[in-house]
Formats: sequence, C-alpha cells, structure tokens
Amino acid sequence: MQTEISEKNLHRLLPNRVPKPIVVDEIDSTNACLKQMALSGAAEGTAIFAGLQTAGRGRLGRDFASPPGGIYASVLWRLRPDDRLLCLTALAAVAVRRALARACGIETAIKWRNDLLLGEKKLCGILTELQTDGQGIQAVIGIGINVNTQKFPPELSGKATSILLQTGCAVDGNRIAAELLRELDAARSVLSENPEKYLAEYAAACITVGKRVKVLRADTSRDALALGIGHDGALRVRYNDGSEELLLSGEAGVRAQNGDYC
Ligand code: BTN
Repeated sequence: MQTEISEKNLHRLLPNRVPKPIVVDEIDSTNACLKQMALSGAAEGTAIFAGLQTAGRGRLGRDFASPPGGIYASVLWRLRPDDRLLCLTALAAVAVRRALARACGIETAIKWRNDLLLGEKKLCGILTELQTDGQGIQAVIGIGINVNTQKFPPELSGKATSILLQTGCAVDGNRIAAELLRELDAARSVLSENPEKYLAEYAAACITVGKRVKVLRADTSRDALALGIGHDGALRVRYNDGSEELLLSGEAGVRAQNGDYC
C-alpha cells in the first residue's frame, strides 16, 4: 500500500481543488514556509504537506517532534478582522476529527484546546498562527498527525501515539490528506456564516469537560474544574475558591486519574 503522500496521488484524489496541494519530502516547518508564502501572495486555500519537519513548531513556542510517518500540513485562510478568528483551532480540530473518521474509521477525542487523542494519547496537534500584511489577516493552520509513526523521542513515547501503533495497521496518508483538505475547505466555508454546528461538535467531543485541570500561565498554576465549552471554543473553569473564568488561550492541563497532569 502507498502510505506516503505524493502530489500525484493527492491531485488524483482531489482533481478539482484549486490551488493544487504542494507536497515536499522534508521541510523546516510547513507553518513557517506557508507564512512566508502568504506574504508573497499565496492564494487562499494554499496547502503544503511534508513527510518530515526538521524544526516543527508547537504551541507556546515549543518544538513539535515531526519524525517520518506523520502528516505535517499547513493551510492558508485569508480572513477579515470581523471573521470569528478565535474559533479557527476548534474548527480545524473538528475537521481533522471528521477526516480521520472518514478516512480510517477511527474515533478521536479532543483535548482542549488543540489536541486530538486516540486511546488517551496524543495523535494530533494543531497550531494556528495569524499575521497581517496590512491588507487582511492571514491565518496559517498547521496540523501534525501521527499516522504511520513507529517511534517517538523517549520523552514523548508515554504520551503520544500513532494510528499504526494504536490499530496495528499502516494507513494510506494520501487518503487522510485528501479528506483533511475536503473537511478543512468545508470548515472554511462555514466560518463567516455559521460555525456553531462545528463548535457544538467540538464541545461534544472534548474530554477536558468535567475533568480536574491545572490552569498553567507563565510560572503560575491553579487547580480548577473544567465546566464546559463556551463561545468560540473557550474553556469555562471553576477554581477552588468558587470563581469562574473563560479561558481563551493559555493552557489547561488535564489531571489524569493517577494524579498526574498530561
Ligand atoms: C502542538 O501540539 O503544540 C501543535 C503542533 C502543531 C504541529 C503542526 S505540524 C504542521 C505545522 N507546521 C509546524 O511547524 N507546526 C504545525
């Protein structure tokens, strides 16, 4: 079975998509590359896939390990200031979840705000980056999915999984990539009008809700209970002193049953 993504296969699966997706073997970061391309005039919907990344970027300035076997993709959305910019990551999470269900029949859970889990381990991370050239807003939505990954760096091996490791089956990356683009294009089309259905799906699939969480900010952390998903995918939490907050960004680590935070 062909497991690696190629332009030829992707173009065959998406014959009418414009612009045609770009596929490279190796890159520093698909997000960094697409942000640069956006400044040089790349079209709405430009998508780039890489077989591995040498400087993959994660949230909060972290690195994102990007070994062979994963899908590393970024898509460009050209937006206006009055678009619902805060819900882009939630829309993308739902799009990835739908694509994985359709392409390989797996049911993933969402860990607020930007992770997809399979069997309680991280399968996918999403990094949305916004920039402007003074004319409009350029959103680069970066998605890393552990598809046929066999080995992770030691520090991740207890926390990350891949479809191959979880199911024992290698899957066709082209199929997933094609469904991913279809779903992202569909999510893009509801953004300005009515993203509420996506946000409801996000809330329903989000396993953070109902859990004890640790809200981490700079060098502070506070214990809280995750109460639910609010407007634009924000997480509503209640602290131990009874006060409540709607978290738009930052980080809420979920307390695992053994008392650890993951
Ligand atoms: C996270 O889990 O912190 C977010 C990870 C996002 C990784 C993807 S892989 C494709 C795109 N290019 C990058 O450099 N990062 C994103």
